[in-house]
Amino acid sequence: MSTALLDVHLTGADADAALRADARAGLTADPKQLPPKWFYDARGSELFEKITELPEYYPTRTERALLLDSVGEIATASGAHTVVELGSGSSYKTRVLLDAFAKAGTLRRYVPQDVSESALRGAMDALEEEYPGLELHGVVGDFTRDLGRLPRGGRRMIAFLGGTIGNLLPDERAAFLAHVRSVLEPGEQLLLGTGLVIDPAVLVPAYDDAAGVTAEFNRNVLRVLNRELGADFDEEAFAHVALWDAENEWIEMRLRAERDMTVTVAELDLTVAFAAGEEMRTEVSAKFRPDGVRAMLVDAGFELTRWWSDRDGRFGLSLGTAL
Ligand code: SAH
Ligand code: AVI
Repeated sequence: MSTALLDVHLTGADADAALRADARAGLTADPKQLPPKWFYDARGSELFEKITELPEYYPTRTERALLLDSVGEIATASGAHTVVELGSGSSYKTRVLLDAFAKAGTLRRYVPQDVSESALRGAMDALEEEYPGLELHGVVGDFTRDLGRLPRGGRRMIAFLGGTIGNLLPDERAAFLAHVRSVLEPGEQLLLGTGLVIDPAVLVPAYDDAAGVTAEFNRNVLRVLNRELGADFDEEAFAHVALWDAENEWIEMRLRAERDMTVTVAELDLTVAFAAGEEMRTEVSAKFRPDGVRAMLVDAGFELTRWWSDRDGRFGLSLGTAL
């Protein structure tokens, strides 16, 4: 019998209202933009998993190798009884953490939280089989909104991996970290993965792979708007763009209209004109410098207890302790 729990903090109705608000604001803005969280319907979550296996996409394997090197120390330092993971997706890399915490003898509960119910359910089904003694308490929620309702009790560590923090804009990022700090008790920990600033010749192909999987992932947001809001985007008329913004130190993904178009969003009673060549921002993926990560953590009320990075300086893993 299943003992796993699933809380839904983001109901279909909440998600629908949020998508409507984001789509209306973003499609009527100049320049147009859409927030990246809408990539992740079931198909988008699957496409993201495919991205993680691409030869060009180094973050997942680099972070996993860092986790393998550091988890023993993390588990001992943390002593956590509950591992909470935000934006957990398939929880693929988390198994490295769960194994080490189980070995350290402290782990009782894993709380994955994700906006994608399909990804979360898939992960929980697999974990239930693989970790029969582990209490699983999944949460469908938005990590920019629903942290206050995460399960409490026991000593916790919050993991936020993959470099997903870079998908938040700078002001959202600071608010998010302050919020994470506010739900932790002093002494509890945050394990944070961050992509680092590296040569754009390595960075850009990671977001513009030869097989075109990232392009499909990018265009998936248009399919989501078509399905959920009755829009009539012609996906194939939008080209995938990934560029390095050296000033902001982020990769920016955009969709470029290949011809003049008028798009109707039936559910919003909205008509949107795209000029040929017009670009709409769909994601930023900020890359950090080690000093910037420390400053970001300190500003939010954490001490940087430990820092790990790979030999090529592509990815950083920080263990922050709530002050
Ligand atoms: N942590 C995993 C997955 C990263 S992909 C890894 O490192 O590989 C980003 C994940 O964050 C996706 O599963 C997506 O559904 C989720 N996500 C994106 N925006 C979110 C939000 N606002 N709240 C909760 N989850 C979100
Ligand atoms: C989830 N996030 C950290 C990914 C990234 O690298 O910014 C999302 C992604 N976008 C394109 N490829 C992968």
